[in-house]
Amino acid sequence: MTAVSKNNAKRVTAPVATERLVLRPFTSADVEDRYAYQRLPEVARHLYRPPLTREGCAESIAARAEGTDWRTDGDTLLLAVCRAGEPGVVGEVVLTLTSAHARQAEIGWVFNPRHAGRGYATEAAGALLSLAFGQLDAHRVFARLDVLNTASARVCERLGMRREAHLVENDLDGDRWGSEYVYAMLAREWKG
Ligand SMILES: CC(C)(COP(=O)(O)OP(=O)(O)OC[C@H]1O[C@@H](n2cnc3c(N)ncnc32)[C@H](O)[C@@H]1OP(=O)(O)O)[C@@H](O)C(=O)NCCC(=O)NCCS
Repeated sequence: MTAVSKNNAKRVTAPVATERLVLRPFTSADVEDRYAYQRLPEVARHLYRPPLTREGCAESIAARAEGTDWRTDGDTLLLAVCRAGEPGVVGEVVLTLTSAHARQAEIGWVFNPRHAGRGYATEAAGALLSLAFGQLDAHRVFARLDVLNTASARVCERLGMRREAHLVENDLDGDRWGSEYVYAMLAREWKG
């Protein structure tokens, strides 16, 4: 599942399978599937950024065509989530190394609303937590989310993450002050 690359960084090399899903790196063939959900205003509503363009989707996929190192602050592992044995991408999960020194990582998820309400986001994020605490040796994984993003808060809670902060009006979303929850889990709290 992970290998060590030439510069001594860890690198996810193969798909991760769960009961119903396969998590794997995106390829250029996935651009339309990714754009189908990343272009939607309702998907971007709580992300403090506009929906992605088709070019934006393609660029971030192309930037990771050679795989992703897991070594320095800012390294980001982006994985497509597919249903086992079925074509197409239903969503994505992302893990960013925010502090290599303190082994801290931020997790996130974005799914196509057509595939909502089936537990796919929770299942995929659980697999990514496993990868983070296992092969990638994270000490703490956290998620930051708009307090209005109740579906995402439920994903955190189903995963067993602790709500450890409520930041009040710490960001500006257009002309709306946004408030944020931070959920987190430590390696020793992860039951696998
Ligand atoms: C956040 C997001 C991924 C959550 O999607 P979701 O469909 O609610 O989450 P899941 O895929 O884990 O599905 C969970 C739901 O499926 C239900 N479910 C149905 N069948 C299930 C099954 N077999 N297993 C588990 N859950 C199942 C659960 O009860 C749950 O419903 P509930 O939340 O109403 O209780 C989605 O809303 C999204 O992509 N939002 C836009 C992007 C975004 O805001 N990302 C987060 C940034 S911090």
